[in-house]
Amino acid sequence: MITVDNLVKVYRDVRALDGLNLKVKPGQVYGFLGPNGAGKSTTILSLLGLIFPQKGRIELLNEEVFRNGRFDEGKLVKAKARIGYMPEHATLWEFLTPLQTLDIIGKAFRMSRAEREKRAEEVLKLVNLWEVKNRKVGKFSKGMRQRLLLAQALINDPELLILDEPMTGLDPKGIAEFKDIIREQRKAGKTVFFSSHILAHVEEVCDTVGVIVKGKLILEDSIENIKREFLRKAGYTIIVETNRPVDFSGVGWNVTPLGENKYRVVSQEDIREELHDFVASQGAKILTMQVKEPSLEEIFLKMVK
Ligand SMILES: Nc1ncnc2c1ncn2[C@@H]1O[C@H](COP(=O)(O)OP(=O)(O)OP(=O)(O)O)[C@@H](O)[C@H]1O
Ligand SMILES: [Mg+2]
Repeated sequence: MITVDNLVKVYRDVRALDGLNLKVKPGQVYGFLGPNGAGKSTTILSLLGLIFPQKGRIELLNEEVFRNGRFDEGKLVKAKARIGYMPEHATLWEFLTPLQTLDIIGKAFRMSRAEREKRAEEVLKLVNLWEVKNRKVGKFSKGMRQRLLLAQALINDPELLILDEPMTGLDPKGIAEFKDIIREQRKAGKTVFFSSHILAHVEEVCDTVGVIVKGKLILEDSIENIKREFLRKAGYTIIVETNRPVDFSGVGWNVTPLGENKYRVVSQEDIREELHDFVASQGAKILTMQVKEPSLEEIFLKMVK
């Protein structure tokens, strides 16, 4: 769906993209994560031909739209007809209504009047703006504006959605609704690529995460693999409660008592079974066992550091 090879973008003295590689496969919901200034928006603007990188290669929906320092306009236009884009900083027409706004965008995609009307109704219902379809956008809250921008991105029923920080400014309810819409898109077989600097926005809804730091992708994997890899490096932390004291001296694990009959056990491997056997060998029983998984937040902070 998206392939980026060795992309370089320099703004005067800032090397915003420094040999960026990434790959988004069909059907993925890909979270493009990175701290402020990492190069997320620069990547997205480059994908869409809205700024000009100096080097590298970009493929969108099997079209090689950029290579040898230039865009192929024909291929880019063809690919973009199948893409929906929600920019990070967008202006809406304050004096128009959602219906009027979507009608203009639909015209830009050369949709017929009947198609525009049908699709506008579908997407406005999807983003929960159907009730206010005839109200002027000027009075809309931040959350309503974000949802209208998403409706705009969906108007052409795109195969690929590219969203730049789509959840910024939404309240918790808005974020939950937004995640539901993304899940719906995935169910419908669409591919979604969206950027964020906030892990919580990405963790529940994405299957794959790419992390960009200083214009380079430092990691690209499934959330499960990232966690597993981190667990392997950080070790497993298991909190265990027993029905009576257990003597852990002489075991190879790192054990800290946490209170009466409660222990923290840290080990390089997953030793839950051995732990059971060891406790049983002392004639004790495990009452509760809890494996502490690192949150993606912890992993992210470590990596970015
Ligand atoms: N038009 C520009 N001219 C000069 N430098 C720019 C321009 N746009 C971005 N930059 C610089 O390029 C780097 C990457 O910026 P970019 O906007 O891509 O980051 P980002 O990951 O989207 O950050 P944020 O989370 O704040 O949106 C930053 O150092 C930024 O200051
Ligand atoms: Mg940005």
